Amino acid sequence: MTTLKAEDLSAVQLQDYLQYAIAPRPICFASTIDAEGNINLSPFSFFNMFSTKPPICVFSPARRVRDNTTKHTLENVLQVKECVINIVNYDMVQQMSLASTEYAKGVNEFEKAGFTMLKSVMVSPPRVAEAPVQMECLINEVISLGDTNGAGNLILAEVKLIHIKEDILDESGKIDQQKIDLVARLGGDWYCRVTKDNLFKVAKPLSKLGIGVDNLPRSVRFSKVLTGNDLGMLGNVEMLPTEDDIDAVSQLADVKEILDATIGDATNRERELHELAKSALKQGEVELALKIVLL
Ligand SMILES: Cc1cc2nc3c(=O)[nH]c(=O)nc-3n(C[C@H](O)[C@H](O)[C@H](O)COP(=O)(O)O)c2cc1C
Repeated sequence: MTTLKAEDLSAVQLQDYLQYAIAPRPICFASTIDAEGNINLSPFSFFNMFSTKPPICVFSPARRVRDNTTKHTLENVLQVKECVINIVNYDMVQQMSLASTEYAKGVNEFEKAGFTMLKSVMVSPPRVAEAPVQMECLINEVISLGDTNGAGNLILAEVKLIHIKEDILDESGKIDQQKIDLVARLGGDWYCRVTKDNLFKVAKPLSKLGIGVDNLPRSVRFSKVLTGNDLGMLGNVEMLPTEDDIDAVSQLADVKEILDATIGDATNRERELHELAKSALKQGEVELALKIVLL
C-alpha cells in the first residue's frame, strides 16, 4: 500500500489523488448574478446536500490551483446572496462542460453554452430550462477555507423552491432514479452516467438491526467462497435461525445431495455449501443462505 503525507504533496498532486478517489461527485450547475445584474452559470462537483430540514446544500468554488484567483460564482454570491442549483443529466453534459470555460467576467455562460434561461420565481438568477431539477436557493453563509492556491470556499445554500420536470417522476410523484439519467464527475476528464444497468439496491430497512458479521461463525467469516458483499448480506439478518430451522434445510434436495456426496470430507462439504449459499444470496434468499452456511 502506498501511503502519502498530505503536507508533502503539491496542490496539483492533492487535486489528482483526491478527485480520483473521492468520486463520483454530483454536479451543482450554479446560476448566480452580480450586483450589476450580470448572469453567470458554472458547474461545481465539490457539492452535496448536508441537511434535510433545513434543506442545505454546499458547493465550493475553490481558488484556482494555477494562479490563486477566485471564481466569478464566489464573487457573485458575496454580492447577491442567491443562486439556482441546476441538476445535470446526460443530455446536458457536453454543454455543461463548455459552461465551465473560464470566460471573462460579465460573460453569460447560458449563452456561451447554449442553455435556455428560465425566469426563477423567488430569486434573481435564472434557472436552466433543460435541467431535470432546478432548486432556487438563498445563500446563508460563505466559509473561506484559506487563501492559498486550491483553497475552497463553502457556499451554504438553503433550498427554497424545487422545480422538477414531470417526465422524471414515477406514478407516486417521486423522482424515478432510473429516469433522471444523472451524470457525475470523477478524476481528470472522467464522468459516469447512472443508467438502469449500473443501478442496484441494497436493503437496509431502518427498523432492522442486523446480527452483524461478528456473529457469524469463523468458518463463514473466513470462507474462501463468500465475499465481503455476501457477508454483509448475511450479517444484515435480524436473528440467527434456530437449530430446528437449520436442520430443516438439510432436507432440501440440493443440500441433501451435497451432504450425501461429502461424507467424511469436511473441506469440500464446506466449500459446496458456501457455493450453494452464494447462489441463494444472488437470488435474494438471504435467510436460506444463512441456514445453509450454518449447517
Ligand atoms: C463538472 C465540473 C465540475 C467542477 N467542479 C468544480 C468545483 O467543485 N470547484 C471549482 O472551483 N471548480 C470546479 N470546476 C471548474 C469551474 O467550473 C470553472 O473554474 C468555472 O470556469 C468557474 O466559473 P466562474 O469563474 O464563472 O465561477 C468544475 C468544472 C467541471 C466541468
